[in-house]
Amino acid sequence: MLGGQTALITGAGSGIGRALALEGAQRGVTLFLVGRRPEKLRETRRLMSRHAIARPIVADISKPDGRLLIRDTILRHTGLLHLLVNNAGQFARRALADMRDAEVGNMVDVNLVAPMLLIRDLLPLLERSAPSRIVNIGSMYGDIAYPEISVYSATKFGLRGLSDALRRELAARKIAVTYVAPRATRTDAMKPFANTFEKEGVKIDGPDFVANWIWNAVEKRQRTAYSPTFERVFVALQRVAPSLIDRSLGSRPANKPKRRRRWRRIQATAEWRAARSAYDENKPNAEALFHSLVEKYPDEPDPHGFLGNIYYHSGHFSEAARHYHAAAVQLLKQGNREHAASIISLISRIDPALADTLRS
Ligand SMILES: NC(=O)c1ccc[n+]([C@@H]2O[C@H](COP(=O)([O-])OP(=O)(O)OC[C@H]3O[C@@H](n4cnc5c(N)ncnc54)[C@H](OP(=O)(O)O)[C@@H]3O)[C@@H](O)[C@H]2O)c1
Repeated sequence: MLGGQTALITGAGSGIGRALALEGAQRGVTLFLVGRRPEKLRETRRLMSRHAIARPIVADISKPDGRLLIRDTILRHTGLLHLLVNNAGQFARRALADMRDAEVGNMVDVNLVAPMLLIRDLLPLLERSAPSRIVNIGSMYGDIAYPEISVYSATKFGLRGLSDALRRELAARKIAVTYVAPRATRTDAMKPFANTFEKEGVKIDGPDFVANWIWNAVEKRQRTAYSPTFERVFVALQRVAPSLIDRSLGSRPANKPKRRRRWRRIQATAEWRAARSAYDENKPNAEALFHSLVEKYPDEPDPHGFLGNIYYHSGHFSEAARHYHAAAVQLLKQGNREHAASIISLISRIDPALADTLRS
């Protein structure tokens, strides 16, 4: 469906931009690859098949002459632009108080102002090629504003707002807009922070996986596309109960462990729901998901209880008793005596002596 279309991808020399370029080439898209480092763009080109059509443009999108060069190069070659993918971006995880003027300014320039101006400058080409589409690469942090990622979050909130407004502004000119929000992805930008994120339990995707679902969303002409992972639950929660996210992420130095516990609970519940859906949909990996949940969250009763049910109904009674027991212990710790009592009564059908130890 995308074959034969022309796309410009900013930041195509590395990370998500490179993966988008490689996947785009495979889908038959004619590409303009933009970035400041020529060798990185050449490397992206080299990774493509010989038959791919991909032209590097060495340009800085935050500079007027860089944007002019981009426009003139397209005019000289195809004169058409069906897809403008605003991907180039900067990331930093640092408290606002520790950021210098230039750092804040550069990030806002590259992540937000440059895409605005590039869209403006390329509008005539997009209009001439209509129906066409602007694809803005945002982030989960464009919905969930994370402490110490404030400037980055603000730029992605801005990009999301820009996408909504332009979708309405440009509809009559047959220029559509897709806003895309990946979760953390293993790229150069993420490298210095990956360890810290992983210690906090943040999951990190590979860029190829991300590029694949982004192109699928573009092909389906979606207005927005969020990472197809459990973080979507947090985005929904942010919309309906933002104070819950405030309480989990907000800084309360004297109360840090409690905050972390709450965040962990929210995360556990989200993953638990994903596993339940997999089970309800008969997905083959559902049982493995429950096992990984009990390993990751041994103090959460629900996954244990559910595994208990699975084993009970398949006649593996000693395994069932083991998981029911773990669930009951956690429920008692949480003071949920009523729910604990119902699980203890299940245990008593299998192993009355074990049930008695919990009653005492
Ligand atoms: N990695 C993640 O966890 C993650 C998650 C969600 C969303 N995102 C978003 O995905 C996009 C790509 O990020 P990434 O992680 O793939 O980062 P990356 O590997 O650092 O890639 C960013 C690219 O942007 C280019 N670039 C930066 N400033 C530029 C400028 N002024 N003009 C032209 N090109 C410029 C860089 O190339 P040159 O230096 O050669 O110019 C680089 O190739 C960003 O918008 C980011 O916010 C990333």
